[in-house]
Amino acid sequence: MDAPLLKTPLPGPKAKAIIERDGKVVSTSYTRDYPFVMARGEGAVVEDVDGNRFLDCAAGIAVTATGHSHPQVVAAITDQAQKFLHMSGTDFYYEPQVRLGEIMNEVAPFSGPKRSFFANSGTEANEAAIKLARYSSKRPGIIAFLGSFHGRTMGSLSLTSSKAIQRRGFGPQLSSTFHTPYATCYRCPVGKRPESCQAECLNFLEDQILVHLISPDEVAAVVVEPIQGEGGYVVPAPQFHERLRELTKKHGILLVCDEVQSGMGRTGKMFGIEHFGVEPDMITAAKGIASGLPLGVTTARAEVMSWPPGAHASTFGGNPVSCAAALATIDLLRTSLMQNAAEVGAYMMDLLKGLQEKHAIIGDVRGRGLMIGIELVRDRVTKERATTERNQVVNACFDRGMLILGAGQNALRLSPPLVLTKAQAKTAVGILDEVLATLK
Ligand SMILES: Cc1ncc(COP(=O)(O)O)c(C=O)c1O
Repeated sequence: MDAPLLKTPLPGPKAKAIIERDGKVVSTSYTRDYPFVMARGEGAVVEDVDGNRFLDCAAGIAVTATGHSHPQVVAAITDQAQKFLHMSGTDFYYEPQVRLGEIMNEVAPFSGPKRSFFANSGTEANEAAIKLARYSSKRPGIIAFLGSFHGRTMGSLSLTSSKAIQRRGFGPQLSSTFHTPYATCYRCPVGKRPESCQAECLNFLEDQILVHLISPDEVAAVVVEPIQGEGGYVVPAPQFHERLRELTKKHGILLVCDEVQSGMGRTGKMFGIEHFGVEPDMITAAKGIASGLPLGVTTARAEVMSWPPGAHASTFGGNPVSCAAALATIDLLRTSLMQNAAEVGAYMMDLLKGLQEKHAIIGDVRGRGLMIGIELVRDRVTKERATTERNQVVNACFDRGMLILGAGQNALRLSPPLVLTKAQAKTAVGILDEVLATLK
């Protein structure tokens, strides 16, 4: 399928009718930026119910790693669905879950024996990580970072600090959770320059939180996104992760990498933390892992994941159909798509850096592979956030036949399926160019 290809005004009549019905029955908490109503998809192209085709640079929030309905993934799902749909891996055994555990052992970014817990989503994978960290360390404290997103169930939400609305009205949060500044290097929270940065943003954790609020020997884990996702696709300086690893090691604190958005090949490596040469003790993965079927995984060092039967479980977690989709997805990632993400991502990044020279509103272009953020500012010196303009760009891209999402207060995120071709990347950047040219 080629895209963009627009046949009706947007939204078309069928889309309009569905959106009207949705407005009467679906939770008001969902955040829809524009009226896209999906009918079908193939690769990095999606078609709406009126036959309009869009280039998909959102991938259902960084989920459809192998593209929409990849034939190998669909075949694996169909094959498993014909055998059995569910048996609960909590109480019974089935091979696809075991196989996925073996594969996670091969791909998880740390050495030594590992074990995996299977859930249904990113937030549940993080709930498991929080519980496991507390259980195995017998310590209560969890440290997270400002701007992070870890999910919306009560434990994960206590770590999430991307937008206040996500927490507003839901307190009190989990006790013994603390937040410290992330390495948002474009807006360094401690005013340092990249040339001389020693990850001083971590001084607040080391010299304030661990001195005044909680003793290090009461901290179970530091939970960190290797590259912040919802917070704005923020890539930290390498010394940030290095110093964090040293600090956590020194105090016997578990380092948990939330790879829900940055994992599964998106950055051109299987996991985002691999760009930083640091080995965590535990990772969580979801989103892209099963190309769109619900699955969350928490993989930890085997000595950490040694809780007794009954300590934690999930009826649906590690559903066999989701596991089959994950096995097919990981196979595709390893054989070709991770490489494609690295190559097409680098190509797209070059094109976007060119665009930055042309449009003063682009303050920063950053990312790895096909996890790319573009921060819009009203003034490159003051870095005043161009939030309204960012929202206009998201909508104007839709009007031109491209799906993108925002991230953070004023960034655009490009998180297409990892099957994106160079020609599609060029089309996407061309649309952005056109749209940015229309901004006053
Ligand atoms: C880094 C990260 N962790 C956790 C989550 C939560 O995942 P889910 O929405 O599947 O619960 C997200 C979702 O955006 C995420 O980006």
